[in-house]
Amino acid sequence: MQDFDPLKPETLDSPHEEYHRLRSQCPVAHSDAWGGFWALTRYDDVANAASDSDNFITSVQNVVPKVAFTGRRPPLHLDPPEHTPYRRALAPLLTAKQVARFEPVIRDICNDLLDRMLEQGGGDICNEYSAPMPIRTFAHWMNLPDEQIEILAEVGRRYNFAVQSDDEQETKESSALLYDMARNLVLDRKKNPLDPAIDATSALLAARAEGEPLPDEMIVGTIRQVLVVGIIAPTVLIGSIAVHLSEHPDLQQKLRDDLSLVPAAIEEFLRLYTPYRGFARTPAKDICLRGRDIKKDEPIALVYAAANRDPEVFERPDEFILNRPNIKDSLAFGRGVHGCLGATLARLELIVALECLLVRTNSFEVNGPVRLTRMPEIGALSVPLTFS
Ligand code: HEM
Repeated sequence: MQDFDPLKPETLDSPHEEYHRLRSQCPVAHSDAWGGFWALTRYDDVANAASDSDNFITSVQNVVPKVAFTGRRPPLHLDPPEHTPYRRALAPLLTAKQVARFEPVIRDICNDLLDRMLEQGGGDICNEYSAPMPIRTFAHWMNLPDEQIEILAEVGRRYNFAVQSDDEQETKESSALLYDMARNLVLDRKKNPLDPAIDATSALLAARAEGEPLPDEMIVGTIRQVLVVGIIAPTVLIGSIAVHLSEHPDLQQKLRDDLSLVPAAIEEFLRLYTPYRGFARTPAKDICLRGRDIKKDEPIALVYAAANRDPEVFERPDEFILNRPNIKDSLAFGRGVHGCLGATLARLELIVALECLLVRTNSFEVNGPVRLTRMPEIGALSVPLTFS
């Protein structure tokens, strides 16, 4: 039984047209794609499921389509209480105060990447700017040595594009390389620990669950998890923003003329172009939702991108409206026990990346075909731009 087909070719807007239809006519929808899954598109249903980790769990399947070929990657792949020590170990390294230390680093990274693009008069804003930026930032946050930063940038870029192009072999190979890097990092920090207050791997090694150290393989999985959740979304969102600002040159100029508007603009772009279309849960037992029977363990996509355009919550949901009064209700970073741990760092990356792009150009516009992502992301993956 198929209420919608996520494999249909898409444009930047077409999934949202489909989600408007589903929200009003079939809010708990089923698709046969990828072995079959359900999709929630109404804001309340998505927010309730994300907030109810007892009945909607992540340990069976946390994303549609399923991309993990290998072991468990905490904290996302575990349910509380097992999930919590991993989250608790990482959280102090992602507070506003800790994250603020990286602002000059991110600015240098953005300016360095833009130098190269400016020499050419433009380029692919995703491939050359918004994909390498979060990987390099992450490498600094992980205290990787310079030579490792370049390797991570290359392998991360390969993984990112392999997942998006549905290239299973390349995804497996690059994922294995990311695992090797994470494993070597754990071995190295065991021999040469850094201060857990500034180093994620050392913090995970120092953490205890019921008095016991966390298992090494789970620490490796955590590092591998954090790396991937943190790189794809900024790549895609900056791509979607570039398309929007190219189509709305007045808004582009308004933001360039007053950079103090950029943080609010980023919040609205996160709502309008929510880059993670949705993560998944499975019900802990058979349930009935809005009259549809869902069996235990059947994957349910919480479509954050659809919830964020629900007209019941966001007036004129398909429009960019700066400083919406209820923008804090946006689900771009999820909600509940698995809500994004890196949201402060992600916001800083996005703000600095957009500021630098605006400051270093007089204007930019799309000059060729835009390539789009697919589920579980949504938005632009490749955007050729001309700078002037
Ligand atoms: C624009 C950028 C980002 C977006 C839109 C985003 C979005 C999200 C969302 C929607 C979730 C919830 C997943 C779920 O409901 O199952 C999540 C979880 C998570 N994110 Fe982010 N994220 C971003 C960047 C980052 C960064 C930079 C980091 C780390 C440095 C990060 C670390 C995490 C972690 C560790 C989790 C899992 C938390 C848990 O399971 O307890 N994210 N993110």
